[in-house]
Amino acid sequence: MTIHTRIPPQLDPRKYSVNFGEFIGIGPNGNLWVDGCDVKALADRFGTPLFVISENQLRFTYRRFRDAFRSQYPDVEILFANKSNNGLAIRHIMNQEGAGGDCFGVNEMYLALLAGTNPKTLVLNGSNKQADELEMAILNGLCINIDAMDELEIIDAICRRFGKEVDIGIRLKLDLDPLAKREGVAMHGPGTLKQQSDSTKWGMSREQTVDIVGRAKKLPHVHLKEIHFHLSRMSNDPRDFAVMAREMITWSSYLRDKAGWIPPCIDIGGGWTFGKWYGTGPGAQIDDASAPGPEDYANLCCVAIKDEAQKLGLPLPKLRLEPGRALSGPAGISVGRVGAVKQGDNKKWVNLDLSTNHLPWAGVMSWYYHSVPVVNANAPQSEVVDLVGSLCNSDEVGAHRKMPPLSRGDLVAFLDTGGYTESCAARYNAQLLPASVLVCGDEAEVTTEREQLKDIAGRFRVPPRLLAGSFAPVE
Ligand SMILES: Cc1ncc(COP(=O)(O)O)c(C=O)c1O
Repeated sequence: MTIHTRIPPQLDPRKYSVNFGEFIGIGPNGNLWVDGCDVKALADRFGTPLFVISENQLRFTYRRFRDAFRSQYPDVEILFANKSNNGLAIRHIMNQEGAGGDCFGVNEMYLALLAGTNPKTLVLNGSNKQADELEMAILNGLCINIDAMDELEIIDAICRRFGKEVDIGIRLKLDLDPLAKREGVAMHGPGTLKQQSDSTKWGMSREQTVDIVGRAKKLPHVHLKEIHFHLSRMSNDPRDFAVMAREMITWSSYLRDKAGWIPPCIDIGGGWTFGKWYGTGPGAQIDDASAPGPEDYANLCCVAIKDEAQKLGLPLPKLRLEPGRALSGPAGISVGRVGAVKQGDNKKWVNLDLSTNHLPWAGVMSWYYHSVPVVNANAPQSEVVDLVGSLCNSDEVGAHRKMPPLSRGDLVAFLDTGGYTESCAARYNAQLLPASVLVCGDEAEVTTEREQLKDIAGRFRVPPRLLAGSFAPVE
């Protein structure tokens, strides 16, 4: 086995005849390439459906995001939202870049720790944290963002039992009054951004946070570290994020006045958009080249935080952010192979072995992932087809796509699918989960093995009492 040591790798963006990203584009032979690898060669070697991640693209995007905020603010920590792609290799790359992480649940926490992430850079979020989850966080030194009134008591009991100290934050139910009339992307039901935010299960009210702070201050082994909020992907307007960031400072002054505690850190969560010239994003709001970049978010949010802190006489808190999709999304593509092509009276369907099991957001959120033929990627798009998966539902992975004529055996890639694809993939129709490969330069290595039938069948059990009956001869 060859061990490659190329850290940090070259991060000079590649020049393709068409660039879809800094490390993804149409290569010298006219095919789609990820970094220095021809995607056709990857599909032939590793099989389809296949997730492909560009290591250099991930690092590049992370650095751009980090630098945008660090150039505007004195103390910034980026916590990669592990849920967006919780592969171990991805986590290792994030560690090497110096990113912390946002974890949900024991397993995501376990994976981050297994990858060697510094626990002091990890936060545990969740609306229903179990005792074993809290215990694991406390024993390993993670910061826990409280999101239920009885969580502090459970944390306190665990700390006493093990003689441990713990850092805590509190997840807020921000008022967001200035967004009461702002319409966004209906990710959390209909209504304005405020209505959507108010209607989610997340966060504690003002009075509840005062109560939690009051109780925590009496516990010598509990250290209050941050307040937390996650606007989610409800808007792609950075001004909405700036409102949210400002509201965090307003809440800090409320806690100072009512509870005698000034949060030393505000964690303003994820939900950061990215756009592409060819489009990507939720059906209702496809983000193109005009979508904000990290620099836009950084400018507006940091100004808002500094301005509000100065007005209210508060010291500047440390700033934490939890980007997920904006980092992992553009780093990945998903590749499927064409099977049956069916011509209807006024419609053509191109079946792929890539389905909404693998790109779940394409199904449940009508998410637009741009599709590109892998071979001869720039061929004239002379047809409009529905790209569908093979599942027992309509399984539209890309409706009404302009494509060159496709036939059995051809390959189609969906761009910007590095986030919330592998981590959200499902097994409907007992479909096996795809493999993932990580590309760096002209090398590709498997980072997630392709699932096998034994992985599905092996989990099933038949109660012994049913065994004989199903083998009984038919009368
Ligand atoms: C608490 C928290 N932080 C960060 C994220 C990442 O969001 P995104 O991938 O949209 O940046 C999420 C997503 O659900 C989240 O729940």
